[in-house]
Amino acid sequence: MKILFVCLGNICRSPTAEAVFRKKASTLGLNYHFDSAGTAGYHIGEKSDPRSIKHAEKRGYEMKHLARQVQVADFHNFDLIFAMDHSNLQNLIQIAHTQELQSKVKLLTEYSKNFNSDHVPDPYYGSSEAFEHVLDLVEDCADHFFHSVTHK
Ligand code: 4NP
Repeated sequence: MKILFVCLGNICRSPTAEAVFRKKASTLGLNYHFDSAGTAGYHIGEKSDPRSIKHAEKRGYEMKHLARQVQVADFHNFDLIFAMDHSNLQNLIQIAHTQELQSKVKLLTEYSKNFNSDHVPDPYYGSSEAFEHVLDLVEDCADHFFHSVTHK
C-alpha cells in the first residue's frame, strides 16, 4: 500500500501526516510506503517548517522530508492520496485526468473520529497551538484509518 499526503506548501501538514502514519504503521508491523507533496511549488527542496519538526519530535515523530510538488505520476505511483483540505482536494482532482485516478483522492479528515473537522487547518500563520492541533487531528485520523484496515 502506497499513500501520499498532500497540502499546499508541503512543509507543515502533509509531512507531519507522513511522519505520523509512518510511525504508527511501523508499530503495527505494516509494510506501507508513505510520502508527501504540495500543490504549490514555493518550498521545493526545503526541509519542513522548523515549528512542525519541533512539535512532531516532542511526540516522537521524525520529519526528514524535503518539499516537493505533486505531479501526475503520483496518481499512478500511489494507491491513495490524502488531501489536507478542500482546496488541495479540488487541485488534485483537476490534476488527475481520469475518474479512476480521481477516485484515489480523499480528504484525510474522512477518518477523523474524535474531532468534528472536515479539513486539517493550515498552521503556517498560526501559533504553537495550531501545530499541536495538526498533530492531534492527524493522530486521530491515523488511528481510525489503521483501525479500519487492521481492526486493531
Ligand atoms: P502547509 O502550510 O500547506 O501545511 O505546508 C503552508 C506552508 C507554506 C505556505 C502556506 C501553507 N506558504 O504560503 O508559503
